[in-house]
Amino acid sequence: MSFTPLDTLKSHLNAIDTQGLRRVRRSVESVCQPHLVVDGKPMLAFNSNDYLGLASHPLVVEALKEGASLYGAGSGASHLISGHSQAHDRLEELLASMLSPYLPSVRVLSFSTGYMANLGVLSAMADMAKGDITFFSDALNHASLIDGIRLTRSACQIYAHADIADLSLKLSSCQSGNKVVVTDGVFSMDGDTAPLKEMLALCEQHGAWLLVDDAHGFGVLGDTGAGVLQHFNLHSGQLIYMGTLGKAAGVSGAFIAAHEHFIEWMVQRSRPYIYTTASAPALAHALLSSLRLIRADEGRRRRAHLQNLIQQLSTAPVPAGWTRMHSTTAIQPLVIGSNAQVLRASADMQSKGIWITAIRAPTVPVNTARLRITLSASHTSHDVDRLVRALSFESIS
Ligand SMILES: Cc1ncc(COP(=O)(O)O)c(C=O)c1O
Repeated sequence: MSFTPLDTLKSHLNAIDTQGLRRVRRSVESVCQPHLVVDGKPMLAFNSNDYLGLASHPLVVEALKEGASLYGAGSGASHLISGHSQAHDRLEELLASMLSPYLPSVRVLSFSTGYMANLGVLSAMADMAKGDITFFSDALNHASLIDGIRLTRSACQIYAHADIADLSLKLSSCQSGNKVVVTDGVFSMDGDTAPLKEMLALCEQHGAWLLVDDAHGFGVLGDTGAGVLQHFNLHSGQLIYMGTLGKAAGVSGAFIAAHEHFIEWMVQRSRPYIYTTASAPALAHALLSSLRLIRADEGRRRRAHLQNLIQQLSTAPVPAGWTRMHSTTAIQPLVIGSNAQVLRASADMQSKGIWITAIRAPTVPVNTARLRITLSASHTSHDVDRLVRALSFESIS
């Protein structure tokens, strides 16, 4: 009996089930906020990256509608054909003004997603170096950075997570003409921050670029929400900064901020920038409203409230047998261990009306499956109390 390609596929899917690695989608039937209806059931959610609660902010929603009436539903073409609008220009200029204290001669380039922005920046760097380049990547970097480096087919050294001594050793023994250290600013599945002050000093000593993916810091960290650059008060022409706009900014998209010469190089050579349709200008228009909130007192108030919630949760007891990560950010994971255990814990929480997604390998290392709890400024202290009470009845089983 011969096997068809579909038989083979079925056996691969069965293997995913056997390992407890099947990923499933749930359908949300309400506005993006903590109190949701999911597949017909009310849930209190602790798994969104809408850290400031701006996805449902009336001014942002109104700006999206206004953007659609000003610019229509779509952009119609790539940025270098006819898809680049005045709204994209304004968004890039506003972002540049937020980041100018940290990045000399800064210019910003917007992308439709963070995944694309990372592919775009990494491919432009490899192209610039004409093959003579080594990337140094943190062991816990996000998939989009890993994939972006792989696609360049360049040399890559993986250093131990946030380990300055290991990074220093690897940089010292590398002979490449171009070196690029690549790191998450806030690690997406652990919630800790990279030691960026020390890393930047090391990069300056070795003439290396430092590429920081601040998907989870932009909007949340720093007095005006300028992310890890502001939080650590970094300033250097060797920094390249990536931020996303679908998390704390509550809309969609991403951007690269760097020296104007580097951004011009990306416009000329970054294939993931050149060969794709520009995001809808209405999104850029909505983002202008969201960024104004982030920079203003409203953003400060939301960040302060979020900080209080982080404090409330991170000082609450952890169920027996589970481990809390050392995180001071809105990402507060509880590591449980095996896939089966974490799936059981997530299902138990859902039966109590609380939605926390089970995160498993390869998103996190094998046997460190976890509940990735994320907090938002749109949670109340009462919501966090409910979570803590629900967790207090959990334990390893
Ligand atoms: C660290 C990090 N970088 C990049 C991305 C990709 O961003 P986007 O969702 O805008 O594609 C994510 C998304 O979760 C992320 O966590």
